Amino acid sequence: MTTQRTKTLMAFSILLAIVAVMLVTRHVRAQKQQDPKPSSYSSVIEEPLDVVRARDKAAKAGVMAAHQKLLEERYDLSRHVDDSLRMTRGKPIPVGPTARLKNGLTWEQLGQMSPAEIRDQGIFPYLPLPHVNHPVGGMVFPQTEIKSLPRLERFDMDFDLPDWFLPEIPAAIFLTTRPDLGDVSKGQVVTVDNYYDLFNGILNPKQLEGLRLLVTQFPQQQFNATADRKTEKADGMRGVACFDCHVNGHTSGAFHLVGDIRPQENRRRIETPSLRGVNIQRLFGSQRALKTVEDFTEFEQRAAYFDGDPVGATKKGLNILDRGSQVHDMAEFEELLDFPPAPKLNVYGRLDRTKANESEIRGEELFFGKANCSSCHTPPYYTDNSMHDLQVERFYKPRLEGGMLITAQGPIKTFPLRGIKESPPYLHDGRLLTLEDTVEFFNLVLEIKLTAQEKRDLTAFLRVL
Ligand code: HEC
Ligand code: HEC
Repeated sequence: MTTQRTKTLMAFSILLAIVAVMLVTRHVRAQKQQDPKPSSYSSVIEEPLDVVRARDKAAKAGVMAAHQKLLEERYDLSRHVDDSLRMTRGKPIPVGPTARLKNGLTWEQLGQMSPAEIRDQGIFPYLPLPHVNHPVGGMVFPQTEIKSLPRLERFDMDFDLPDWFLPEIPAAIFLTTRPDLGDVSKGQVVTVDNYYDLFNGILNPKQLEGLRLLVTQFPQQQFNATADRKTEKADGMRGVACFDCHVNGHTSGAFHLVGDIRPQENRRRIETPSLRGVNIQRLFGSQRALKTVEDFTEFEQRAAYFDGDPVGATKKGLNILDRGSQVHDMAEFEELLDFPPAPKLNVYGRLDRTKANESEIRGEELFFGKANCSSCHTPPYYTDNSMHDLQVERFYKPRLEGGMLITAQGPIKTFPLRGIKESPPYLHDGRLLTLEDTVEFFNLVLEIKLTAQEKRDLTAFLRVL
């Protein structure tokens, strides 16, 4: 009797299990059919930090090696600098071109080829640059910066480009309101510890408060107090400050992935632009096209810090800035940041011919003539405050490289060229490591067939802007 009942019960249980498995499988299959696309949302359910950290650390050497290989294939990363031409506080500027040419071609031969020929032979030297670990992404800070601010270190990846291709740290700070003071940085990285000593008596109290907020840490996707983070440091868990990337109101060269695009492989690597001269600009972000410095200031913490995902932001500690009493203060300070002095330019932003040498003069003539750079980069600040689609995809076939989909990128902001020698690497993703590379890039993109001498002259002109 008892065995009979047990048998029936077992048979029933097995039947139930089979039905359950069938139901679950059907449900999963139905879900997959309904939703073949990846979601725009990332999961808020996290694995334990020690599990993730152990896995990330074990994988780190491999991640770095794979990315280094990609970089080495594209660029000569060795140190070539011009000691006679330095950034304001003395760092020599890097000299290129650094891009490696395929098939033994010379720059002159490449410049004679059509975009279609370059595309079909797969020899375009300036492909979009992936993030160090594109599927993961997030903010990554240069090693030299981490030396002075160890809280910015991540346990899963390091910065990729050598220091000589980056802006100087600390950078000089020039204020539009106090040009009489020259560089007000006193050779220091401005942080919450020293901002008051450095700026009390120079700024008004409202601007001082704005600066305080710009150097104060707030939670961010990789730097926060939840288990979903990439920092091991207690002070890293407090978040990042605006001036961790825009160091001294300029840039350290820190990068992350733009938050506005899905799926992940279509997102762009974006290198931190300088805040020098935001006062004369009317369009902010490489593609976001926000209209005021106030908007961008508010947007950074509300959206960019969390990859444009308010769900994760709520979990990790979204800091809502008050528009009237905080955003305005921060923006007022940002608007004071001036471009560095350009002693060879006159009031129109054109060369003062009594101070310029022959090569610089020829370079200016090319810029406004044969090379036609001035149709987008208009003086005195060398931006038209607009966006342009350079149609760079004419030169390559779409494909995945380093976890990134190399494809058409659309219109991008015309970044100003004033003070340009102080903010390598160039373009929104930093794929051009030197000014020489920007000249080679535009020589191809605009199909202007410059000679070697003309390229040298154009570079000489960019160096005085
Ligand atoms: C990852 C480091 C990082 C941090 C931290 C950061 N920014 Fe940015 N910032 C960027 C990048 C990258 C861009 C370019 C965005 C784009 O291309 O859309 C940018 C763009 C900007 C711009 C527009 C500049 C232009 O030329 O279009 C402003 C203004 C700005 N940031 C202000 C801030 C403020 C204020 C904060 C703090 C609330 C902040 N940023 C924090 C990296 C950073
Ligand atoms: C059709 C408009 C257009 C023309 C013409 C043009 N540019 Fe640009 N320039 C841009 C845009 C747009 C960007 C930003 C592209 C990006 O980030 O992907 C840019 C970026 C740059 C940068 C990098 C700026 C930075 O902060 O990273 C340099 C340098 C530059 N241009 C120099 C030149 C030179 C030199 C010429 C002439 C040979 C030239 N440009 C012609 C639109 C133009």
